[in-house]
Amino acid sequence: MAADPLPSFPPGFLWGVATSAHQIEGAADLRERSVWDVFEARPGSIADGSTAAVACDSFHRHREDVELLAGLGVDAYRFSVSWPRVDSPGGLDHYDRLVDDLLAAGVRPVPTLFHWDLPASLDWLERDTAARFAGYVERVAGRLGDRVHSWLTLNEPAEHTILGHALGVHAPGRTLMFDALPAAHHQLLAHGLAVRALRAAGAADIGIANSHGPTWPLSDREEDLAAADLYDAVMNRAFSDPVLLGSYPDGLAELMPGDVEADLKVISEPIDRYGVNYYAPSLVGAPTGEDSAYGTLEVPARLPFSLHDIEGRPRTAFGWPVVPEGLTEVLTGLRDRYGDRLPPVTITENGCSYPGLDDQDRIAYLDSHLRALHRALEAGVDVRGYFVWSLLDNYEWAEGYQQRFGLVHVDFDSPERTRTPKASYAWLRDRLRDALR
Ligand code: NOJ
Repeated sequence: MAADPLPSFPPGFLWGVATSAHQIEGAADLRERSVWDVFEARPGSIADGSTAAVACDSFHRHREDVELLAGLGVDAYRFSVSWPRVDSPGGLDHYDRLVDDLLAAGVRPVPTLFHWDLPASLDWLERDTAARFAGYVERVAGRLGDRVHSWLTLNEPAEHTILGHALGVHAPGRTLMFDALPAAHHQLLAHGLAVRALRAAGAADIGIANSHGPTWPLSDREEDLAAADLYDAVMNRAFSDPVLLGSYPDGLAELMPGDVEADLKVISEPIDRYGVNYYAPSLVGAPTGEDSAYGTLEVPARLPFSLHDIEGRPRTAFGWPVVPEGLTEVLTGLRDRYGDRLPPVTITENGCSYPGLDDQDRIAYLDSHLRALHRALEAGVDVRGYFVWSLLDNYEWAEGYQQRFGLVHVDFDSPERTRTPKASYAWLRDRLRDALR
C-alpha cells in the first residue's frame, strides 16, 4: 500500500457506502417474488446453488447496519427499494423505518429505485413496464419524499440488459443477444418517466447509476478498433448518450422499439447527479471464432467482439484486474464526451471482492482508486461523491455468497448473520476521520 497520505477532497464531498435490496434484505417470505427468485430456482443458475431468501437478513437487522454506518462515519447510505416488497402489504413500512433510523444516525438516505429485482410478473421487453415503474416510483416518493431528497432511478441498466437478457447469466436468464436491446430502451424510458414522477413529487436531487469502464482495443488493427467501438457503444454509450444527449449511438436507434424519437425526449429529462459505477476496463478485439469471458461477462463466439485478459495487473478474487487509472480515464472521458451536458458526477459504486477479515488487498484497492479519483478532480471533472461497494458481504448474484465485496464480513452460516468489521472498515473509518476531509 502507498505510504503517502491520501489527498483531501473538497468540503461537502459526499462519502458513502452502497448495497441493494435483493443482495442483503432476505425476508423473501414477506414480499412478492422477483425475476431473481425465479432465476435462482433454476438448477445451475447460481455458482454455489444458493438463493437470496435470507441473505444478510437486513430486513430484520437493519438497525445493526445503521450502527455500522454510523460507526464508519459516512455521510450517506445508498440502498435500494425492492419493488416486489413495495407491492406487498406493508412493504413500504420497512423503508419508512430505515429512512427514519438513518436520519436519526445523521446518515443521508440515497435510495435506488430499481436494482434488478423486477417483480416476477413483469418483463422489460414490454413497454408497459416503464409506465408501471413510474406508478411504483410515485408511491415510494409519496411515502418517503418528505425525508428523502436524493434519488437514483436505475442501477446499471447495461448489466441488467446484457447479463440478464442478452447472455442469460443473470435473471431473467434470456439469451436474446442483440434482440435484448428493447429491454434497455424500456428501462431507459422508465428512468425518464421516473425523473418526471420524482420532480412532480418535489425531488431536487435525481440521478441514475450507470456502469462505466474504459474499452481498450486489443490493437490498432482496424478490426480490433471496430470491435472495441461496437462493444463500447453497447456497454457504455447506449446507456449514457440517451440520458445525457437524447440520442443513441450510431446504428442502435433502429434496433429500438416504439417511437424512439419521442421516447428520447422523456429519457433525456434533465438530472442533477450522474452516478458512475466503476470496476475495471475491458480489453476488446475482433471475434476470434471462440467464446471469451471476463468475470461473469461471457461473450459467445458468434458476437462481433471478443474479450481478452488485461495482463500484468493484480486481480481481485473475482478475477477482475485492478486498474485504478481506469477510473480517472472514465471520468475525464465522460467530461470530454458530454461537456456541459454532464451533471456533477458521483461514484455510486467502486469496490472489490477479496476473502478474509484482514483484507489488506481491499485497502490497497480503495487507496489506489481514491487517488485515481482525486486525479480526475485535479483534471477539472466535477465529482461530488464516492460510495464503496459494499457495506456488507452479500448475495453476489450468479456467484451466490462466494464473492465478498463487504467492508464488513457476514457469517452466512450463523442464524444471526453475524457482522464483523474487516480491516478495510477500520481503515476507511480512520481516513474519513482525519485524511479525506
Ligand atoms: C454492480 C452491481 O450494481 C452490484 O449489484 C454488484 O454486486 C457489483 N457490481 C459487484 O459485482
